[in-house]
Amino acid sequence: MSDTTHATLQLAGKQYALPVFIGTEGETAFDITRLREQSGAITFDEGYGNTGSCASTVTYIEGEKGILRYRGYPIEQLAEYSHFVETAYLVIYGELPTRGQRAKFSDLLTENAPIHERMVYLFESYPRDAHPMALLGAMVNALACYYPHLATNTHYGDTDNFDEAAATLISKVRTITAMAYRMSRGLPVIYPKRSLKYCENFLHMMFSDPYEHYQCPEVVSRALNLILLLHADHEQNCSTATVRMVASSGANLFASAASGVCALWGPFHGGANQAVIEMLQTIHDDGDDGSRFIASAKQGKCRLMGFGHRIYRNYDPRAKIIGKACEELLRTLGVQDPLLDIARRLEQAALSDNYFVERKLYPNVDFYSGIMMRAIGIPMNMFTVMFAIGRMPGWVAHWREVAAAGRPRIYRPRQIYTGCSCREYLPVEKRG
Ligand code: CMC
Repeated sequence: MSDTTHATLQLAGKQYALPVFIGTEGETAFDITRLREQSGAITFDEGYGNTGSCASTVTYIEGEKGILRYRGYPIEQLAEYSHFVETAYLVIYGELPTRGQRAKFSDLLTENAPIHERMVYLFESYPRDAHPMALLGAMVNALACYYPHLATNTHYGDTDNFDEAAATLISKVRTITAMAYRMSRGLPVIYPKRSLKYCENFLHMMFSDPYEHYQCPEVVSRALNLILLLHADHEQNCSTATVRMVASSGANLFASAASGVCALWGPFHGGANQAVIEMLQTIHDDGDDGSRFIASAKQGKCRLMGFGHRIYRNYDPRAKIIGKACEELLRTLGVQDPLLDIARRLEQAALSDNYFVERKLYPNVDFYSGIMMRAIGIPMNMFTVMFAIGRMPGWVAHWREVAAAGRPRIYRPRQIYTGCSCREYLPVEKRG
């Protein structure tokens, strides 16, 4: 009879029984937490493609089937019926809020929208053309300077004030982002309004003027809600794994989230939404219909940005939802964007090309989100910042899982050393 509770590893004539750990949806892992202690060996998995770094109750993804669920709810249902703030509550606290809980959470966000007035002066010291992701990382970290009671750097102290810290982060990143945008353009700063909802308030701070209030079309606030909601969590991606890693050292929520911002910035991760538009613009400017670009990608000279995913091997469910919403937004606003035509042509060509089919490369969430944000009026260098705003609830939830764990353990992977063996120090005159 086969033993489904243990896997057996044979090494140098000895056998080791590894407990089998099975998740809610049947995912199977061999628990190797005592492997080194028992055998002296470790596992090797560069890029962590086969490593479960934690157990988590936040998000479930089944890449082969294109399934994504936050706290058990399918992304398609949340995209259709929920909005960003409600979904943020769900991701953070684990349940859809009652009417009362939702109102209380919204009030907390409203209360925490303004930033400390002295933080406004911080923007002045940065160059006008500073990348908004560099600014965001710095400002999120700076929250610990201005709200030290929420950043005690002790898990118990910081979890005691968790509700306020979570609302501070989620609400203030929106204010910080809009202020950075206004200052980068030499425009007067617009303060948040208590009467506006989360997305409308952000668009107000971005696009209102002291003499003219921005009238937010319903389709625009709906589109922004959707973009943020679709980004709210994505289990152990590069930035979330980074947040958990930093949190495991006992670091406060703001420091952990700032590290997430830095990890997200790279073009293979959140920076892909900006890279997609740059790619589409280049194709457009070169008068290419996309075929030359695809040929270069196949030769390994470049990558089709917004394509491919480590986990999704069939399709990215977020891309399906966002592709449809993108068409709808542009149609309703009456925007003709030649980049959308190029994107559609690229998608069609790539999906019927063996190179992409064999490697299971499909459009991911970043492929269409940039075109939507362009239509809303968000500048390209802010696209990844929008991803970060959307991802905050996920980072908050994961930070809490680490910080509130009964026995928090610092994350500390091992390595296989492949450098020089021990050698003698040579004085400089003998080094040739
Ligand atoms: N265009 C062309 N070829 C690609 C692409 C692409 N976008 N992505 C992967 N490949 C090829 C790659 O060259 C390799 O080919 P070969 O086997 O011949 O060497 C094969 O597919 C496997 O690639 P990989 O780099 O081992 O795949 P990965 O799982 O490590 O990378 C990825 C995943 C998302 C980093 C990668 O697909 C990529 O760079 N995509 C473009 C950037 C992008 O859109 N990133 C956003 C991801 S979704 C948002 C998020 O969660 O961050």
